[in-house]
Amino acid sequence: MKHIHGYYSPNDLYNRIIAGLEKLGKDLSGLTLDDLQPVDEFHIRGDVATKELIKLSSFTPDMHILDIGCGVGGSTRRLFNETGCRVTGIDLSDEYIDVAERLTQLLAMQERVKFHAASALALPFDDGTFDGAWSIQMNLNVEDKLSWLKELHRVLKPGGRAVLYEVCGHRNSPVHFPVPWAQDCSMSFLVPPESFGDVLSFAGFDIDVWNDRTDLARQAFAHMTEPSGEPNLPELGVHLLVGKDIQTKAFNLHRNLEEERVSLIEVVALKPDK
Ligand SMILES: C[S@@+](CC[C@H](N)C(=O)[O-])C[C@H]1O[C@@H](n2cnc3c(N)ncnc32)[C@H](O)[C@@H]1O
Repeated sequence: MKHIHGYYSPNDLYNRIIAGLEKLGKDLSGLTLDDLQPVDEFHIRGDVATKELIKLSSFTPDMHILDIGCGVGGSTRRLFNETGCRVTGIDLSDEYIDVAERLTQLLAMQERVKFHAASALALPFDDGTFDGAWSIQMNLNVEDKLSWLKELHRVLKPGGRAVLYEVCGHRNSPVHFPVPWAQDCSMSFLVPPESFGDVLSFAGFDIDVWNDRTDLARQAFAHMTEPSGEPNLPELGVHLLVGKDIQTKAFNLHRNLEEERVSLIEVVALKPDK
């Protein structure tokens, strides 16, 4: 897991995000979620997908929700902002968690949005702590899917809902690397959607909603062309999170989607109310 931690541990990330915001002329005292969106929602279809997942979740202000693999916390903050629920985010990367906390303070959301550096495989919470959970494109970095899904099941209250937005494998292999979540195959653990569904069931979940989002992902990356020469990167973007080769990674994701090597699913899984 060390190499995955290393991949998501850029130096001086907070200051580089602040420098990017300043270059764009953003007023830090009036910062909005949308100002940060280019860098803090690191998943396919960004905030558009996050808003769809919020609708799907039915999470309400009285709930405490866990965000597993929260990155720098963009979707964690948006979930709080749009539902009012209390949210706790965890991520393997202590650099991302430090940035998540500092950005959350900048937006004055720290009373209801908290973060901890932790692994999805060993969640630092008691059984039945959370009313609900979500995880956005983290499973793709986790080899032991049954263990993390059992952990998710353990920390949910009976009747709790888990919303999962995940990249899976498809009918063809291998995947072209690098991709946004992995430099090479040692960091990427994609299983076909139906196998992921089986592991959810083994972990004790009932599947309530299952939507294939591969076509939407394909449309989102349809414009990608093969990069050449020096990358022309924006002031603020996910290259700050995972490196300057992001355009090659995005182009490879486009190829993987077109060639049916990866798929994208949106799932609501229920911990049965015994
Ligand atoms: C593609 S990013 C998605 C981040 C965030 N969910 C978002 O949408 O912006 C994957 C995240 O999963 C985290 N991650 C990978 N393996 C993990 C693990 N075993 N436990 C906790 N977090 C993990 C990484 O550190 C990274 O922040």
